[in-house]
Amino acid sequence: MKGIVLSGGSGTRLYPMTRAANKQLLPVYNKPMVYYPLSTLMLAGCREILLVVNPHDVESYRRLFADGRQWGLEISYAVQPKPGGIAEVFLLGRAFIGKDRFGLILGDNLFYGDSLPAVAERGATGKGAVVYAYWVSDPAAYGVVEFDAHGRPVSIVEKPKQPKSNWAVTGLYFYDADVCDVAAQIPRSARGELEISDVNAHYLRQGRLTVERLGRGYAWLDTGTPSSLLRAAQFVETVEDRQGLQIGSPEEVAWRKGYIDDAGLARLIEPIRESEYGKYLQRLLARG
Ligand code: DAU
Repeated sequence: MKGIVLSGGSGTRLYPMTRAANKQLLPVYNKPMVYYPLSTLMLAGCREILLVVNPHDVESYRRLFADGRQWGLEISYAVQPKPGGIAEVFLLGRAFIGKDRFGLILGDNLFYGDSLPAVAERGATGKGAVVYAYWVSDPAAYGVVEFDAHGRPVSIVEKPKQPKSNWAVTGLYFYDADVCDVAAQIPRSARGELEISDVNAHYLRQGRLTVERLGRGYAWLDTGTPSSLLRAAQFVETVEDRQGLQIGSPEEVAWRKGYIDDAGLARLIEPIRESEYGKYLQRLLARG
């Protein structure tokens, strides 16, 4: 399965933290932010990954991920010249997508929940477009989906002034390859961007959109402002400290999914054995 991680953008709401550093490379507690969405895609079974990044960040991402082989992945890179909207990814990624169904995740989205792999796999194996909605207190900050009395989606609007519901569309999506043609048709929004909500609304009009609601047992966290970034870090710290298990470790996911074997994990541990992260991976390997 193919997956795209969108890791560009200007991160203006996090200035000055993002003046020199790319937002998705900032830490969320003990890992770069982008580790979390990448792990989510890996849990959904994506092993062929396209990372979409800003021109001046390519080298940093290559240092972090290289070609992904160390994690049993195949990672390639596409450059987005400037942040022109999430749906630009379908134009930039056309060659990568080819004729295949694929997952897309935003590099600043953190998901947590027991059945998440199964939920994501349903998107991976579904038809048309599959997106996920999550009940939030501040829907106006997101794409918002409205449902009819039978629970069917009837509208999707990006950052509505008067939201029709509290259901925000999260940053995890699955599409068929038709999405590249859809993105080529939609006009740019008032803020000059190709909006993902317009793409989803197009699928909705065609009757080819599935919206799966994530229940209250899931956490979907935002990292867009200094306080939401801090809260996400505190959430990760709280859960990891309580369980002694890490959230969003690509090495762990690769090993548990069998993308790498024990020897492969041991090789990854070697240069980082002294770090807390390295010690965590050593404990995993020792327990078997
Ligand atoms: O987080 C979910 C929300 O993400 C959805 O509910 C909205 O429908 C969707 O439009 C998006 O809203 P945001 O305002 O949060 O998008 P933002 O501009 O912050 O970008 C989200 C991520 O995508 C972030 O990691 C940066 C990356 N990005 C964004 C744009 C616009 C790019 O890599 N390139 C871009 O051109």
